[in-house]
Amino acid sequence: MTYKLPHLKDFDSPVKVLFTGYLTAVAFGYFFALVQILFTHGMADGEFGLSVDDIVYSYYGNRSGTVLETKLNGSMKDNATERERFVIMQWDRDGAEHSEYISLGVKKIIDNKCVMCHNESASGIPDFTDFEALKELTKQDEGATFASLTRVSHIHLFGISFIFMFVGLIFTFAETSTNKYKCIAIGMPYIFLVVDILSWWLTKLHPIFAWLVMFAGGGMAIAFAFMWTVSILEMWGFNKAFVNAKGERYPLWSEMVEGRLKSIGCDSATTVVKKLACLVKSSSIFLWGKWLEIGLPFVKELLKKKT
Ligand code: HEC
Repeated sequence: MTYKLPHLKDFDSPVKVLFTGYLTAVAFGYFFALVQILFTHGMADGEFGLSVDDIVYSYYGNRSGTVLETKLNGSMKDNATERERFVIMQWDRDGAEHSEYISLGVKKIIDNKCVMCHNESASGIPDFTDFEALKELTKQDEGATFASLTRVSHIHLFGISFIFMFVGLIFTFAETSTNKYKCIAIGMPYIFLVVDILSWWLTKLHPIFAWLVMFAGGGMAIAFAFMWTVSILEMWGFNKAFVNAKGERYPLWSEMVEGRLKSIGCDSATTVVKKLACLVKSSSIFLWGKWLEIGLPFVKELLKKKT
């Protein structure tokens, strides 16, 4: 039995306010999660902005150096001067001996520049007033530990599933997407969530999988942004966004997508994979045509001018 769901625009204001409140809070949450990623993982390679290197350093580690060294070149870079970092790293490379800890002036730098954060009362980061805790970090950097990965994995799986439970539930009341596209948008974050977490573990084993982390994170964000925008627009701006000046509904965007698929002959492909393959093929043909038509003559012209 199929039953009709109510539509977002028809809900009473209290429900709309509830949905909007939730979506707004979750969007801020998403924003701060991204900021957090930028400042922790993003700084792993010492440069602002998230790159594949950052992900490799975070999960696989920088195996040519120690944790202390990686951090001093990464997120802890701004906490000491060039010279001080050099002194610490030199000591680290020479074996991080206790006998040289004071004589080389490393202790002094640590006490002055690091202990204000890395002390007994800090939770979650090592306490540098304890030499052993510091010594522990002069081992080869193997990225995230299994313990930390296990912790973060289960928190993410539980937490993010919940977020997408409600974002997806709200989006099920949308009317401007066909069921098929709704299923894709609602299911995608869950697939990408599992792939994302799995790829952390895979990256821990081999750095090549860092790409998968990026890809899955991106997929999740796209699904989120899509469901969020459509839900908000349908609740509060339906007449502006989906109805033209004559009061007629615009054709469903998903119908337009389907129409486009049909026009390039991809609608007969049965599976999503085949559809994607067909899309890639036809866009490659299109791009190649454009290249022959515009790109190549342009390059030829340039070369002619040079010679
Ligand atoms: C402003 C506070 C602050 C100061 C100052 C600071 N740190 Fe940190 N440190 C942190 C935080 C927060 C983390 C955890 C986040 C991270 O790894 O980037 C951390 C993490 C680290 C780690 C990684 C620990 C681990 O278990 O993975 C090392 C190594 C480190 N710091 C070294 C230093 C050194 C050396 C200095 C002094 C030059 C220093 N830090 C100064 C706040 C600080």
